[in-house]
Amino acid sequence: MIFRQLFDTVSGTYTYLLASRRGGEALIIDPVIEKVDRYLQLIRELDLKLVKAVDTHLHADHVTGLGALRDRTQCITVMGEQTKADVVSMRLSEGEKLTVEGVSLDVLYTPGHTDDSYSYVMADRVFTGDTLLIRGTGRTDFQNGDPRQQYDSIFNKLLKLPEGMLVFPAHDYKGDTVSTIGEEKAFNPRLQVKSADEYATLMNSLNLPNPKMMDVAVPANMKVGLAQDEIARRGWAVGAAEALKLVGAADVAFVDLRETSERERHGVIPGSLHAPYPDLRVNIAPGGLLRALAGNKRLLFYCAFGERSAMAVQAAQDARLGAACHLQGGIDAWKKVQGPLERPPR
Ligand SMILES: [Fe+2]
Repeated sequence: MIFRQLFDTVSGTYTYLLASRRGGEALIIDPVIEKVDRYLQLIRELDLKLVKAVDTHLHADHVTGLGALRDRTQCITVMGEQTKADVVSMRLSEGEKLTVEGVSLDVLYTPGHTDDSYSYVMADRVFTGDTLLIRGTGRTDFQNGDPRQQYDSIFNKLLKLPEGMLVFPAHDYKGDTVSTIGEEKAFNPRLQVKSADEYATLMNSLNLPNPKMMDVAVPANMKVGLAQDEIARRGWAVGAAEALKLVGAADVAFVDLRETSERERHGVIPGSLHAPYPDLRVNIAPGGLLRALAGNKRLLFYCAFGERSAMAVQAAQDARLGAACHLQGGIDAWKKVQGPLERPPR
């Protein structure tokens, strides 16, 4: 496995790059905007293809690199389903998996630091965001934080993981890089409490100043969205109500860009074709599935929120698949107009 821990000295943020092999797909966790050039250089050096950029939660102390990485690599942006960020490509919930080629992480909902905090678990390590830090825990006094929820996330989820499991947090301010579940159980001073009430009292008495970047970072991090407006201005967007009338039309092919897990969870538009977003380049290239189809049908891309499909339209237009368009707002918008959905075919 390729694993890199990168550090932003200004915000004390750890960013993690993961891939199964050189030349393979990669994902990045908690990227910082000022470091995007550095990440892209490393990704090039290791001959990786960035497929997913993930934030463990909406950060208050730095501006996320999600939007910049998406704009420069067309990767998929990922957060938890509770996020208040305007547009991310994919929203995960507990029990789902975060995957790229050869790498699979279990998704664990661990609220308390914020109400959109998630941890990601691999066989030997867990990325805990700001839920569990090394000899500390993330503050719970803003962004819908809640010390009792955090107690539950830590004691009933994270500390139930194997003692030897490595802990990689989103931050450290003292120079520690990694710990284990067993070590934190034994030595983390915040965890030496007997009840959720005792933990809440401890957390509520911290009286920390707000992060320096908070007023800049929180609003910026809520606006990672790709300008779907730009795609609409070019006439390549179809609203959900309009798209409803195209179901079953002989000259239109609905193309679902989502992953299998998203299809199973939310359903698919009847009669649509599955062509996952990471395979788009191959599918629209000469000889590709979508290129052949575009010969006699108008491609109508859709995904969860319209972000991947907007990027797909741009790519299809660039590849001269002229009539391609997308469902603006994705399945989220489709559900709001009571568009029909069925179980994906097996
Ligand atoms: Fe945080």
